[in-house]
Amino acid sequence: MSQFEIVSREDFSEVTYLLEVRHPQMARAARPGQFVIVMLNEHGERIPLTIADFDRHRGTITLVIQAVGKTTKQMQQECRVGTSLFGLVGPMGIPTHIGKPKKVLCVGGGLGVAPVFPQARALKEAGAYVIGILGFRSKDLIFWEDKFRAACDELILCTNDGSAGMKGLITDGIAVALAGHADVDECVAIGPPVMMKACADATRARRIKTMVSVNPIMVDGTGMCGGCRVKVGDDVKFACVDGPDFDGHLVDFDDLMTRLRRFTPEEKRAEQRWSD
Ligand code: FES
Repeated sequence: MSQFEIVSREDFSEVTYLLEVRHPQMARAARPGQFVIVMLNEHGERIPLTIADFDRHRGTITLVIQAVGKTTKQMQQECRVGTSLFGLVGPMGIPTHIGKPKKVLCVGGGLGVAPVFPQARALKEAGAYVIGILGFRSKDLIFWEDKFRAACDELILCTNDGSAGMKGLITDGIAVALAGHADVDECVAIGPPVMMKACADATRARRIKTMVSVNPIMVDGTGMCGGCRVKVGDDVKFACVDGPDFDGHLVDFDDLMTRLRRFTPEEKRAEQRWSD
């Protein structure tokens, strides 16, 4: 049995795939909200991925990945059951504080649906009434609906084109949930920055504590390089060691999005070189 062996794989769509990786120690240590840094091969870039699930009995962690750049596309091609990752470091980051909320919205958009799952499950286990709100562009991109139905007290499924669930954006789902529940005391939102920003705006008026999980560019993941700087209120935080969870009402999402675009030309060139 090799280290970091891929023991199962599932393809949710043409661009989204799941890898279940053997790492018993990490499976024991992992908590909701934490992430890992993956290296596909010896010379590969280090990519941060939020842990989407962990199974202490099987000794595995689960990653859900979107093939959007050179490395994630290469992983989509090369990571088959029985192959191994070169490196897998973690669990990193501060685990999500589960606390004792009475009623909580667990909001996941697109790929963010995966990392919100362990939080929904932990909140349910802590006694909260959990309302899951999942948003996808269309029906063929939906994954883990059954897992969420099992972990949540209610589930609101939204698609942009109306091909499944209610037609609309995830903020429309939040509006429905808030209209039906006056006593929501917390919201967890994970997805693209623009979506998390919209979710934070949707809960601001009601002053519902809203935690988001940011995913800036990371290099070392240990607080040394400063690459993952995020503005949170008047503070500058490092997502890798101070996060990745932050108060969504304080995160400067515009700055986050600008920083995420910093290396777009280099990323395009790397992908071009790899595909040639
Ligand atoms: Fe380098 Fe966070 S990734 S400081």
